[in-house]
Amino acid sequence: MSIPVVTVGAANEAVVDGLERLHGPVTVVRRCSELTELLAACQSGLALAAIVGDGSEELTTTLVDRLGAVGVCVVALTDSEDEARRLRSIGVVAASADIEPVVLAAEISRAVERTSSYGQADGPRSTGFAAPAADSPTAPQPEEAMAETSGSGRIFAVWGPAGAPGRTLLAVNMAAELAADGQSVILVDADSYGASVSAMLGLLDESAGLAQACRLADQGLLDIEALTAAASEVFTKAGSFRVLTGTTRADRWTELRAAALTLVLERARQLADVVVIDTGFCLEADEELTFDTLAPRRNASTLCSLELADVVFAVGSADAIGVPRLVRGLAELELVVQQASPRVVLNKVKRSAVGYAPEQQLAEAWSRYGPAFGIEAYIPSDPEACDAALLSGSVLLECAPDSDLRRAIAGLVCAPVHQKRHSFGRTARAPRRLKR
Ligand SMILES: Nc1ncnc2c1ncn2[C@@H]1O[C@H](COP(=O)(O)OP(=O)(O)OP(=O)(O)O)[C@@H](O)[C@H]1O
Ligand SMILES: [Mg+2]
Repeated sequence: MSIPVVTVGAANEAVVDGLERLHGPVTVVRRCSELTELLAACQSGLALAAIVGDGSEELTTTLVDRLGAVGVCVVALTDSEDEARRLRSIGVVAASADIEPVVLAAEISRAVERTSSYGQADGPRSTGFAAPAADSPTAPQPEEAMAETSGSGRIFAVWGPAGAPGRTLLAVNMAAELAADGQSVILVDADSYGASVSAMLGLLDESAGLAQACRLADQGLLDIEALTAAASEVFTKAGSFRVLTGTTRADRWTELRAAALTLVLERARQLADVVVIDTGFCLEADEELTFDTLAPRRNASTLCSLELADVVFAVGSADAIGVPRLVRGLAELELVVQQASPRVVLNKVKRSAVGYAPEQQLAEAWSRYGPAFGIEAYIPSDPEACDAALLSGSVLLECAPDSDLRRAIAGLVCAPVHQKRHSFGRTARAPRRLKR
């Protein structure tokens, strides 16, 4: 079958003419005058590949992801080494502007093959867009681009249903404990509904480091230095960790597109031993918003974080509202992120909400109504320690080092032997200082 392609860019028409003269594996079905026209043609199902003859600078991760969502791979012609590198990092096949048509046709065939086999693979790599059909292939990602960005750090996603079960408190303090344990850590605030990591850490930062990093990733410009610059550094008495702050204005959620966030998280894996993500609560895959035919998803940042996570901590409030919510949320999680195998954490455990011997009562209720996997940890309620931390913009290892709450959170991510090593006076209340 001849591969239908659409093209844009007048500067390299000769290459496209050459392709047509091959009368072979590739058929040029439309020559577009601009990228928006090319996108519309691809969305109508006209082509399997798009050739960007010139003006490749306008290609972004989001646009490539959009095309990938409708099963179209992108090949761009450029003579610049830097631009070719940038293009590859956003999933575009870069070819030289004077490429022989027959070689270009072969490149296109290979790219199309990769895209279609990617679509058949069952591993989920979500695009930032609501797919128009359930069986739409997902974004093509050349192996070399993945290899360029894959690091060895682990990703811990902290998720939990609605009702403020303590996702942020856990994520922030896990990051602090891991840093105190000597690991390099980057904390990412990917909650597209209520980013609050910077408030919890007393950061004065309003620049939404994660949005900045996503913007650079979208343009294919996010290297380690750029990621480091977008992150704030937080110092505690026991170590420091980096933070990509979230978008505090509700209307900025569209800046956290899955395709760009995926690149940010892959880059973060290269920068740190552990990437801790504070996610949003909502797992709905679709929204009724429509932009063009493919809608950016508000929950894309949460879903993408959960898909990429090596470990998902599922946090619920230990009370009559929080536990059933968590049980329902876990069922939903299993449907949308099948590989997640979450570690269940019940937070704010207290007698007044559950009754005598709360852990036992919760375990019994869980064995009757909960999913097959058990509760991994019970985190005690300690409003005093939490309020003190919030008031001083500090972490528990500084403001409540000997509390059971701090120990229980540390126990989730560090070996017990390390938890005792760092114990600091209760007077340590230094607010975080920002270093860029
Ligand atoms: N173990 C705990 N004991 C007492 N209070 C707690 C505990 N964990 C969290 N809290 C308090 O509960 C509130 C909500 O916590 P947090 O902001 O971490 O929740 P969240 O799940 O991130 O909520 P949101 O939906 O706003 O993102 C905060 O005031 C926090 O101090
Ligand atoms: Mg939160």
